[in-house]
Amino acid sequence: MNVALIGYGKMGRLLERMLQEKGHRVLAAADPFAAEEKTALGAQVRKSAGELAEFKPGTFDAAIEFTRPDAAAANITALAELKIPVVTGTTGWYDKLPEISEKVNAAGSALFWAPNFSLGMNLFYRLAAYAASLFDPFPEYDAGGFESHHNKKADSPSGTAKILAEAVLANMTRKNKAVYEMLDRSPLADEFHYASLRVGSVPGTHSIIFDSPADTVEITHTVRNREGLAAGAITAAEWLVSKPRSGIFTMDEMLADILA
Ligand SMILES: NC(=O)c1ccc[n+]([C@@H]2O[C@H](COP(=O)([O-])OP(=O)(O)OC[C@H]3O[C@@H](n4cnc5c(N)ncnc54)[C@H](O)[C@@H]3O)[C@@H](O)[C@H]2O)c1
Repeated sequence: MNVALIGYGKMGRLLERMLQEKGHRVLAAADPFAAEEKTALGAQVRKSAGELAEFKPGTFDAAIEFTRPDAAAANITALAELKIPVVTGTTGWYDKLPEISEKVNAAGSALFWAPNFSLGMNLFYRLAAYAASLFDPFPEYDAGGFESHHNKKADSPSGTAKILAEAVLANMTRKNKAVYEMLDRSPLADEFHYASLRVGSVPGTHSIIFDSPADTVEITHTVRNREGLAAGAITAAEWLVSKPRSGIFTMDEMLADILA
């Protein structure tokens, strides 16, 4: 693939290295603050996604966007107008998703968005849902969850913990409500308790636990580094351009297609 990177920060630079390792070409980047950096791309760095209009139409197979919550919507709109399929990992702009989706569709372009591009985590969501359906008919097994993150993380529970809890609730008729806060009482039988810990530099870890008086079954996802996120975004871009696609896509569509 010939790729443009929108945002040349931590994720942008990691993507550049990993794209090249996979044999793809990074032809340009857009980042208003990247000029201060000594980018390997030199003259191919632009200040904004819209400035990619200076390149010949068809130069880029895809753009990968990791910027800031206040920048993503304008970047995606500009790329849609240029008909460059875009994969975005930027979070915090999803209130604009309906409006941006309309613009992408009107332009006949393509957008792939995901709040978490880790393939392992997206498969773990499915594993959690399936495990919940397996344990559901056996009331001796209670279910709960636990997540731990470094002490700089500002939110608790993690967004991922909420997605996992929803996956369990949707597949366990015995559990109707997720509770995250400290409980000054025993959890009710239909409550799914998901606890959080913030300490030191521990890697992001999410577990789902099924527990009976006789045994415990625990499934756990542990993040080792950011490479899993960049790898997932690259896989998404490869999938997006593997055949002509227009419209709005998420990890659900991609995994359903690959697993079909
Ligand atoms: N979906 C996922 O799996 C995933 C994974 C990692 C990070 N993220 C999200 O991706 C975003 C970026 O993360 P990061 O760690 O690379 O941040 P970062 O701060 O290291 O880099 C962001 C870059 O965007 C640039 N930027 C700002 N405004 C821009 C604009 N208008 N156009 C182009 N570039 C612009 C900044 O100059 C900076 O270089 C954040 O929202 C983060 O939460 C998502």
